[in-house]
Amino acid sequence: KVYPDQDAASLDVARRIASIIKEKQEKGETAVLGLATGATPIKVYKELVRLHKEEGLSFKNVVTFNLDEYYPMQPTADQSYVQFMNKQLFDHIDIPHENIHIPDGTLALEEVPAFCEGYEQKISSFGGLDIQVLGIGRTGHIGFNEPGSAPNSGTRLVTLDDLTRRDASRDFGGKENVPTKAITMGVGTIFKAKEIILMAWNEKKAEIVKKAIEGEISSDIPATYLQLSDHVEFVLDQDAASLL
Ligand code: GLP
Repeated sequence: KVYPDQDAASLDVARRIASIIKEKQEKGETAVLGLATGATPIKVYKELVRLHKEEGLSFKNVVTFNLDEYYPMQPTADQSYVQFMNKQLFDHIDIPHENIHIPDGTLALEEVPAFCEGYEQKISSFGGLDIQVLGIGRTGHIGFNEPGSAPNSGTRLVTLDDLTRRDASRDFGGKENVPTKAITMGVGTIFKAKEIILMAWNEKKAEIVKKAIEGEISSDIPATYLQLSDHVEFVLDQDAASLL
């Protein structure tokens, strides 16, 4: 779906998420959301906060799983995805704290595999993700599934691509300060979501969006795996769609 601008697109994605939450509420069930960080989903979260504050949308029955976190990373650090999510969404809505899940950047290396397995199990224990929202990195990563990621990969520790670290350098005051690793849900984890929405805005994403949608499916560009899914939607603004 191509929208005139990211505002209109973000409103639609927020409405879709709100309708899942309400549907589940009516049935007395939990809505399980897979969430993303980065600049791309900020307006979606802003609209969800507005729906909460102005239209009474409640998040009491919502459980969230974030895609990824840098490793190592303290949750109190400004650049952590924990801070990002608190600032953009969680601090402004009525979600119970224990319903929020974000990969733990403070683990010792030997604790990471068990944590990752537990993350997968926890998602399954809630019946799987009802919806996963995604951005896309310029390497074609989804979450932090960099080139080379397998289509059936699960939650795991990964090494960040040089371009990804360069793109993050502004937040960290220099590329040398960007962690070299991250914990991310896998491509396989993302694929299990009942619905997947990948959002991309601006001209700087046009090239990778074209490759993701029209390119050959390959581990070189993990977002191309989404071509294999029948429940994925790309939500774009005109600039991101300009090369299609
Ligand atoms: C980071 C995140 C991804 C995100 C990507 C794009 O690498 N881990 O989940 O999609 O950045 O970021 P932005 O939305 O700021 O362009």
